[in-house]
Amino acid sequence: MKYLIGIDIGTSGTKTVLFDTNGNGIAGCTVEYPLYQPKIGWAEQDPADWWNAVCVSTGEVIEKSGINSKDISGVGLSGQMHGLVLLDENDEILRHSIIWCDQRTHKECTEITEKVGAKRLIEITANPALTGFTASKILWVRNNEPEIFSKISKILLPKDYIRFMLTGEYATEVSDASGMQLLDIKNRCWSDEVLEKLEIKKEWLGKMYESCENTGAVSSRAAALTGLAPGTIVAGGAGDQAAGAIGNGIVKEGIISSTIGTSGVVFAHMDNIEIDMNGRVHTFCHAVPGAWHVMGVTQGAGLSLKWFRDNFCIEEMRTADLMGIDPYILMDKEAGEIPAGSEGVLYLPYLMGERTPHLDPDAKGVFFGLSAAHSKAHMIRAVLEGVVYSLRDCIEIMREMGIEASQVRASGGGGRSPLWRQMQADMFKTDICTLNSSEGPALGVAILAGVASGVYDDVVSACEEIISVKEIQPPIAENAEIYDKYYKVYKNLYKHLEHDYKDIAEILGE
Ligand code: XUL
Repeated sequence: MKYLIGIDIGTSGTKTVLFDTNGNGIAGCTVEYPLYQPKIGWAEQDPADWWNAVCVSTGEVIEKSGINSKDISGVGLSGQMHGLVLLDENDEILRHSIIWCDQRTHKECTEITEKVGAKRLIEITANPALTGFTASKILWVRNNEPEIFSKISKILLPKDYIRFMLTGEYATEVSDASGMQLLDIKNRCWSDEVLEKLEIKKEWLGKMYESCENTGAVSSRAAALTGLAPGTIVAGGAGDQAAGAIGNGIVKEGIISSTIGTSGVVFAHMDNIEIDMNGRVHTFCHAVPGAWHVMGVTQGAGLSLKWFRDNFCIEEMRTADLMGIDPYILMDKEAGEIPAGSEGVLYLPYLMGERTPHLDPDAKGVFFGLSAAHSKAHMIRAVLEGVVYSLRDCIEIMREMGIEASQVRASGGGGRSPLWRQMQADMFKTDICTLNSSEGPALGVAILAGVASGVYDDVVSACEEIISVKEIQPPIAENAEIYDKYYKVYKNLYKHLEHDYKDIAEILGE
């Protein structure tokens, strides 16, 4: 029997799963690590924590499953996108990684737009300058930490740092590299023009691969630390969103996914490249060779609910602990007792600024419409609904671009909640499906590793074989009507507050 391993270097932890070649999860392990927020809007992690988590989780998965590590045909890497990992000439980490949700690079985005030109930047990188993307983070280090900048020898993304630790190769692949804002998205290669204009050296960047190509083999040193066999193939892998999409079978037009993790993402496959020239949604290379994808991103999706849980649901957390269940189950139950629309309470999920549709790092979270008659349950429901209104913003833009979906596949932690899924069916007015596997990114990159190591012929046929729909939730017309009315108010709230967000940012000196 042959096996595949998928490793997903997430924001809250690294999840490693061993699969058989039918896509069944045999053993899994998650190792968590801290997120550092030294200032409001800043977010950093230590790449050494990721590597430690990969070593521990991989070792544990192999031990738990009792298999011989020589039977693992390949390893696939997925991870949080956009994070900046800087190495010096001795391959030492130069500073903590500035990760995807960090918002400090507002000025550098203006610098990028001025140097490359707003229109040209979108033509090449398919996106406007974004605070979350890697290029602005590189410029921030140059502008603020020249000492560190002068020592740069290599620039890697989070999962590509893990590839380096596993294989010694400095490499990346098209889906994750798309989020660096240095890639020529149409031609799937580094953009000489952008690199020259931003004065970033090409030799600092990794060698480019397609996601299902073999990028190197596990070294003896890494084998000793992870329990993998030396020589095991490491596939290109993919950024977490493209990886999750492969794991959800989003490999042809007409089916889209909606993923609620820390961030929330609506994702569609495209056979031909389409770019929103207003830059409200991202166009990236897909992990399917020769294909692209478009995605809309809500920065604070699961993050909003976690924030609410940690700050206001101590009682639910204690009770859940005693009952041995997840506190989110109790929070869902409370929210389920409140009618659709939360009796007029609305929540804007902009705890970490926003990307789709506003591209505003200064946007902040808001509860609106509270009265003395409302309770915590209304607020929990409003948080859940606010996240879905924001995902609906993404769907509306895709519909404007001519991207239609007959089916939306729900995934991520939020996809496990029947209530949250129903809200999506009602607001999107489409069937919401759940799948036979909920392993998302880990399964996606295990499939890519299977293609790289010759277990499967290609990505599309492997997905068709392995992934199937388990359950379908249709929309409830009555709720859809209520949500349509509140959605209009939700959209107006941002317009009314846009200037106030700037004022607050100025007062806070952001
Ligand atoms: C995608 C994005 C997130 C991060 C963290 O553009 O920013 O998906 O990769 O999950």
